[in-house]
Amino acid sequence: MKKFTFWFLLFICLKISAQKYERLSPTPPMGWNSWNTFQTNISEDLVKGIADTMVSSGMKDAGYTYIVLDDGWMMMQRDSITGNLIPDPVKFPHGMKALADYIHSKGLKFGLYNCAGTKTCAGYPGTRGYEYQDARYYASLDVDYLKFDWCYADSLNAVEAYTTMSKALLAARRPIVFSLCEWGSHKPWLWAAKVGQLWRATGDVGAYFDTVPHNKEWKPQTVTQIIDQEANIRQYAGPNHWNDPDMLEVGNGMREGEDRAHFSMWCMLAAPLIAGNDIRKMSTATRAILTNKEALAIDQDALGVQGFRYATKDSVETWLKPLTNGNWAVCFLNRSALPQKINFNWKNENINDTLLSKQLDAAITYTITDVWTKKNFANTSKPLTATVPSHDVLMLRLSK
Ligand code: GLA
Repeated sequence: MKKFTFWFLLFICLKISAQKYERLSPTPPMGWNSWNTFQTNISEDLVKGIADTMVSSGMKDAGYTYIVLDDGWMMMQRDSITGNLIPDPVKFPHGMKALADYIHSKGLKFGLYNCAGTKTCAGYPGTRGYEYQDARYYASLDVDYLKFDWCYADSLNAVEAYTTMSKALLAARRPIVFSLCEWGSHKPWLWAAKVGQLWRATGDVGAYFDTVPHNKEWKPQTVTQIIDQEANIRQYAGPNHWNDPDMLEVGNGMREGEDRAHFSMWCMLAAPLIAGNDIRKMSTATRAILTNKEALAIDQDALGVQGFRYATKDSVETWLKPLTNGNWAVCFLNRSALPQKINFNWKNENINDTLLSKQLDAAITYTITDVWTKKNFANTSKPLTATVPSHDVLMLRLSK
């Protein structure tokens, strides 16, 4: 019997050590990342200011937790003797551990960035060949989140490269959310659930709703392009393994309605919500979008189901997302350049999430709350009529 217990325990230990940390992200991670606004122009003062604002603006209370330093936090070379990464001492005069401690003292979590290849996208030292050493370094700093990019990695096998880093993080014995960022080029939705908690499924987002100006040398993805790509992979997302449509561009130059549509759709997609604006200087409207409790509750719903596009009419898409307790989120997204009228008769629709065999039951009357205006529409016994402004949404919660 004792022998059996020994082998059984050994088996369990081996099984645990062969996997990523489980249950690190039962709902999509929320936080802030430096890249979209600051690129490599980052510093200790900036990050401390962001941490302070996360608390004072109500973002922390709304659920934003991780502060992630993207590319540009380190020196151009590793330490010539130890091979360790070195944080840039001009940008971070008190070092990374002091910054991590500051962030933790605010009740927030700390994330860093690196790349699977030999260099990061901005040319700083990549992790190739240093996976275990870097993972130990991150653990020594009390890092909670690692975004792992894919530049200078052409000759690598993506599954192997990301699996190696995942194992290295596990061996470092600190629970670190592992965010894969290979832009969807190796279909991570097919294999990354075992490796990390979230994976980018697309190229880099820009602050553009559906068109990138011609004069742009580098063409980022628009909000609508990303939505279209995400629509095809919803079955791969769920608790602790999320499709990542990239960080938020709310507050970075789109019109208010476009920001609202972008944010609403990320919530419908059960997307990680990583703000990418300068929250120290955000407008009241931007703050209201980022901290809208009803929208966030839809993103963070415990069922963890990515929404689906149910119908498209006159450039208005109807998206649905099943929620816990048989409730639903509904989002009418107007992609056209003109306002559009909608007339949606709940009783005539056959809304069925084939993935879960969940039905929006026509026999049940749901109450309807507008997520943005907080107004109550009557209920689903009557057809819904409304006008959705151009590049904006009508987002509703249907409750039993
Ligand atoms: C890639 C990533 C971006 C950002 C930059 C940093 O483009 O997709 O999100 O991390 O690299 O160089």
